[in-house]
Amino acid sequence: MTDKSLITKAARLSVAPMMDWTDRHCRYMHRLLSRETLLYTEMVTAPALVRGGALHLLAYSPEEHPIALQLGGADPVELAQAATLGAEAGYDEINLNCGCPSDRVQSGAFGAILMQSPDLVADCVAAMRDAVDVEVTVKCRIGVDEQEPQQVLPDFLDKIRAVGCNRVTIHARKAWLQGLSPKENRDIPPLDYEIVHQMKADFPDLHISINGGITSLDEAKTHLDRGLDGAMIGRSAYHQPGDILRAADPEIYGTGVETDPIEVARQMLPYIERHLSGGGRLHQVTRHMLGLFAGRPGARQWRRTLSEESHYDGAGPALVEKALLAIAG
Ligand SMILES: Cc1cc2nc3c(=O)[nH]c(=O)nc-3n(C[C@H](O)[C@H](O)[C@H](O)COP(=O)(O)O)c2cc1C
Repeated sequence: MTDKSLITKAARLSVAPMMDWTDRHCRYMHRLLSRETLLYTEMVTAPALVRGGALHLLAYSPEEHPIALQLGGADPVELAQAATLGAEAGYDEINLNCGCPSDRVQSGAFGAILMQSPDLVADCVAAMRDAVDVEVTVKCRIGVDEQEPQQVLPDFLDKIRAVGCNRVTIHARKAWLQGLSPKENRDIPPLDYEIVHQMKADFPDLHISINGGITSLDEAKTHLDRGLDGAMIGRSAYHQPGDILRAADPEIYGTGVETDPIEVARQMLPYIERHLSGGGRLHQVTRHMLGLFAGRPGARQWRRTLSEESHYDGAGPALVEKALLAIAG
């Protein structure tokens, strides 16, 4: 476990939890790009850990710290057990998902639907906090369906703060639980950044990170300069990790120097070797590397070489070196 104050500092910038995207291979590369940024796991459901015993879902590399485990669930007892497993695995923070609208998650009655049950969320947070020493945080929306964010969001924040949740990330749009796919729910409900800034004014002691539609470090800095405590970036960090994370340490934290994505690609080679020797496949790692040079000359060739050839039997680090010739050749 990393010191709590260090996690709070790291939370100035974070990479969002994203199912199927922010797996351990992706996070390992993100960590090479930025030493400081807080990284989130994909959502792991409490039932999978507690009832299903799927402890392999908690595996990560020690280099990934500072790292937060995001849990999905709605049962305080089960979430407390899952949080305990997460803390034992060494995660620096346990985060509760109150923002994910997918059907599968709704059928388990957790994720964004929890915006309708702030008392239950408070019970969940309280149980998790009782169970672990690491920080318990929440990621939420500004409301769901017909809810009026100006009413429900302050009430939600008030209730989780009352049970000791000190840090929250707000995805600055509603989720529509019926009629929109999870993907549409990330684009169609309009962004309302102002309400998030207003929440910071109304809850000055709460550490508030803003999320949704942030596509550059400059945009993140604008929110920080206006007084928010953190900015969380999802899709842009995944698709353009070089742009978003390369300069994060000097620009957001005032530490270190810009990293070089070419160097990062090379630093991935020993990691890939280890993954392959453990029985893994090259594309499981390289699929997260496709955007590393987005916008740079040769980026298309890099992508094409990796995406077309990384599935071949025997594909390994040599393919990454070959693809790199398009960039660094
Ligand atoms: C592929 C994908 C998977 C996601 N999975 C999760 C998840 O597991 N938990 C969660 O809280 N949000 C999830 N999200 C939402 C993101 O964390 C984030 O809130 C959303 O993408 C808005 O931020 P952005 O505009 O910077 O991408 C996911 C988003 C994407 C694109």
